[in-house]
This record gives sequence, C-alpha cells and structure tokens, in this order.
Amino acid sequence: MTPVVLKWDSDFFGFPVARTDWSGNLSEIAEAIADARKIDVTLLYVFAPPNAAPPASILNNVISVFTCQRVELEKGLTDAPNLREERESIVALTEINCNVEEISELGVIAGSHSRFMCDPMIPQSIGRQLFRIWAENSFRGILADVNYGYFKNRRIMGFISVRAQKDHGRIVLVAVRPEARRHGIGSRLLRVAESYVAKSGGVKIITATQGHNDMALRLYHSAGYKEVTRSQVWHVWLKPPSWNTMA
Ligand SMILES: CC(C)(COP(=O)(O)OP(=O)(O)OC[C@H]1O[C@@H](n2cnc3c(N)ncnc32)[C@H](O)[C@@H]1OP(=O)(O)O)[C@@H](O)C(=O)NCCC(=O)NCCS
Repeated sequence: MTPVVLKWDSDFFGFPVARTDWSGNLSEIAEAIADARKIDVTLLYVFAPPNAAPPASILNNVISVFTCQRVELEKGLTDAPNLREERESIVALTEINCNVEEISELGVIAGSHSRFMCDPMIPQSIGRQLFRIWAENSFRGILADVNYGYFKNRRIMGFISVRAQKDHGRIVLVAVRPEARRHGIGSRLLRVAESYVAKSGGVKIITATQGHNDMALRLYHSAGYKEVTRSQVWHVWLKPPSWNTMA
C-alpha cells in the first residue's frame, strides 16, 4: 500500500510521518518503504497483521523498528441493566470545575503505555507533549464530545473522554492517578461513558489499547468488553529524527 502522509503527526513531530497498511506480503512492504523514502519520510507507521515479524530485509536498511501490539475491544450497549447511572463523585468536566493543566497531566498518564511513550526513539518529553495536546483537544471538544472526571477532595483522580458517532461511541482517553487505582474508579468511569453513548443512540462502545497494557486489558475484560481485533503497529525509522523544538 502506498504510504499516506499524516499531516497532523508530521506537523507535530517536525518531519514527514506516513502510514501504510501491510497485508503480510514481502514485496509489498519493500515497495512501501521505497515509496516512503522517495517522499522523504522519516517515520513510517506500518499497520501489520498480528503475528507478522518485521522482515530481515527491512531491518537491515533502516535506523530502527519498534513494534507494538494494538488490541481493539468493544462492548454492546443494548443490555439495559448494565447501564445504570454512575454519577456519585463523577461529573462532566468544564472550565469551571477543572483546569486544562489537570487534564493534560491525566492525558500523560493515559498515554503512559502507548507506542509514542514506549518507542525509545521518541524522547519522553515529546511523547508527554503529544498526550498533553490530545487531552487538551479532548477537553476542548475537538477529539471528544464529553469528558468525565472522578473527584476526591476536589481533586480529579481519574478521567475519561468519549465521542459518540452514528451508531457507536469511542473511548478517546482514560486514566486514573496511580495512587487512586484499584478502587473501582476506572470501572465507574467506563460505565458513565457507556451510559453517555447509549443515550446518544449508540449500540456499542469501542476502545483500543496495547497488547502489553495488562491493567487496561483487565479493566476492559472485567467490564464486559470483548476483543475484536489484534494487530501490530510498527514504527519504522527511515532517517534519524530531527525534532521540532516546538514540541
Ligand atoms: C487502566 C486504569 C484506567 C484502571 O483504573 P482503575 O481505577 O485502577 O480500575 P478499577 O479499580 O476499576 O479496576 C482495576 C482493578 O482494581 C480492582 N478493584 C476494583 N475495585 C476494587 C476495590 N474496591 N478494592 C480492590 N480492588 C478493586 C478491579 O477488580 C481490577 O482488578 P484486576 O486488575 O485484578 O482485574 C488505570 O490502571 C490507569 O490509569 N492506567 C494507566 C493509563 C492507561 O493505561 N489507560 C488506558 C489506555 S487504553
């Protein structure tokens, strides 16, 4: 597949970033990499089948390859008794009850297991900045419709951002501060998000996490989410990155 340049990622990182979907055919990946080089791509995201390994032929000619497993999960929302309201201590976040800095901090926690924070080629400061921006954009209504926060002593201990689309909804970000984990806050935030999606007419809710994110996988499984697909995302570094100093 011809690589598609990703404008947002390229602007954020300060160098050309592209993605390609790979079926597993050897000549196809060699072609995609050659095409990416022609358009000066530094970082190529390859969306690969679950069990594929990066072929030796590509490993020899690139700076580095980072691989991460992506798990997509979903839950049907037609089971009404599970959708009881979960409002105690949880409220929709607004500029009045929280500030953007708190949301950014939680955004960084939400991204702590992501490919952007785990790829050693990406400096921590840049991975963190990426999730700060995504959390801010969720809070401002650009990436999500609504954000809910769990408060304790007026401090937000966890948040979830969610977006409703046609017949389904998507969890954009979810995080609970480390000191507040394993008290059911994540599960309650999920129920609030599910309730929002169901009220918006959605029949299912979708989310994605990393194959190595045990905490998130356990949370979703225990809340009744089922795995729909497993795939891989590779970061194929074709050139040494020259970081955007704005990031
Ligand atoms: C994933 C995450 C949101 C879960 O939040 P959480 O508040 O700890 O979730 P819960 O408390 O509802 O459930 C977690 C565990 O606590 C247990 N638990 C729930 N209530 C409990 C209680 N009162 N006492 C003890 N344990 C409890 C749950 O059974 C579950 O246990 P398990 O992992 O052994 O199955 C949190 O770990 C996190 O922020 N991780 C980093 C960010 C992240 O990975 N986000 C997801 C990206 S896709």
